[in-house]
Amino acid sequence: MGVFASVVDHEQVLFGYDPVSDLKTIIAIHSTALGPALGGTRFYPYQSEEAALTDVLRLSKGMSYKAAAAGLDLGGGKAVIIGNPHTDKTERLLRAYGRIVDSLQGRYITAEDVGTTSGDMEMIRRETRWALGIPVEEGGSGDPSPATARGLMAALEAISEFQWDTDDLSGRKVAVQGVGKVGYYYVQRLVKAGCEVVVADVYEPAVARVVEDFGVEAVSPDEILFVDCDVLSPCALGASLNPETIPKLQCATVAGCANNQLESDSDAQLLAQRGILYAPDFVVNAGGLINVFEELRGYSQTRANHRVDGIYRATRRVLEKARERSVTPFEAGTWIAEERMQKIGDLRRFRRSGDDRN
Ligand SMILES: NC(=O)c1ccc[n+]([C@@H]2O[C@H](COP(=O)([O-])OP(=O)(O)OC[C@H]3O[C@@H](n4cnc5c(N)ncnc54)[C@H](O)[C@@H]3O)[C@@H](O)[C@H]2O)c1
Repeated sequence: MGVFASVVDHEQVLFGYDPVSDLKTIIAIHSTALGPALGGTRFYPYQSEEAALTDVLRLSKGMSYKAAAAGLDLGGGKAVIIGNPHTDKTERLLRAYGRIVDSLQGRYITAEDVGTTSGDMEMIRRETRWALGIPVEEGGSGDPSPATARGLMAALEAISEFQWDTDDLSGRKVAVQGVGKVGYYYVQRLVKAGCEVVVADVYEPAVARVVEDFGVEAVSPDEILFVDCDVLSPCALGASLNPETIPKLQCATVAGCANNQLESDSDAQLLAQRGILYAPDFVVNAGGLINVFEELRGYSQTRANHRVDGIYRATRRVLEKARERSVTPFEAGTWIAEERMQKIGDLRRFRRSGDDRN
C-alpha cells in the first residue's frame, strides 16, 4: 500500500525520531478547520509501528469531532510515542519530543493521555509552549479526569431529562466498566446523586478503592456489560460495544467516558435496533478537553466548570436532533460536528487583519 493511502483523511502526519533516546513518535493532525489541533500524547508499547499509526490516525480524527461538537475553536490531533512509559521515559526523550512538537509552531498542541502525566507536560513545556495540562501548582489545569467525570454527569442529566422527563438521577442503576482516573470521580458523583452503582475493573486495587470509599457493589469484568441497569457506562478501553456484546446488553442507555466505544460506526444502528439510547462518546466525554482548552487563555477553574457543564446542552441538542431527523444520536452528533467544521471553518475566507495566511 502506498504511504499516503492510509492518511488521506488527515492534513498532516509527522514521524519523529531521536536516536539518542530512541524516541519514536507519530503526530497526526486530522483537521485545523476550527483551530489548532489539540490532543494528548499517548505513550504506549504498541505491538508494531503500523498499530501505532492506525491508533494515532483514529484518535486524532475523534478529537476533531469532540472539539467541534463541544463548540470549541479547536481542531483535532493526537500523538503517540512508541515505548513503555514505565521504562523508556527519560528527560532526553520527552524534551526531544517537545522540540518535534515545537516544529509544528502551534498547529498541534499536546496534553496528557494514557501513559503521560501532567509532570511530563511540564518537562515537554521546557522545549515548547505548545503543551497543556501542566500541574495546578504551576498554574495549569492539571489532571483532566475530574472535569471529564463532571461533564459525563451533566450528559447523564440531559439524557435522563430526555428519556425519563427528569434530571433527577436518584434511584437509577448505573453499571460502570472501568474505575480508573475518570471512573473513580464519576462513581463518587453517581453515589452523591443517589444512584445505585455497580462497578468492575480488571485491576483489583481500583475496584477495592471505590468499594471502600463509596460502598458500591462490584461484579466481575466479564459480567459488567450485561448487568440489568438503566445506564451502562463504559469507562475503560474502546470497542466494548460490538456485534458480540450488543445483543446481550440489558441497559436502557449507554453513556460513558471511554473513547471509541463502538467497534465500528454501524454498531450505533445495532444499539438503536435494540431500543438502547447510545449517547455518542465524543459528545459526553469532552469535559477533559474543555478543561484543558481553558488553559490556553489563563486557567480559571470556575470558568472551566461552567464550560464543562455546557455538555448538558450539547447532549440535549444531539438527542433532539436525532429525534427530529429520525437518526441515531451517533449520526446526529457526527452531523453536528461535521456541519460546524464546514461552516465555521469556512469563515476563514473572510480574511482578518493579523491572519497568518497569505
Ligand atoms: N482521563 C480523561 O480525562 C479522559 C477524557 C476523555 C476520555 N477518556 C477515556 O476514558 C477512558 C478511561 O480513562 P481514564 O483516564 O480513567 O483511564 P485509566 O487507565 O485511569 O482507567 C481505565 C480503567 O479501566 C480498567 N480496565 C481496562 N480494561 C478493562 C476491562 N476490560 N474491564 C474493566 N475494566 C477495565 C483499567 O484497569 C483502568 O483502571 C479511556 O478510554 C480514555 O481514553 C479519558
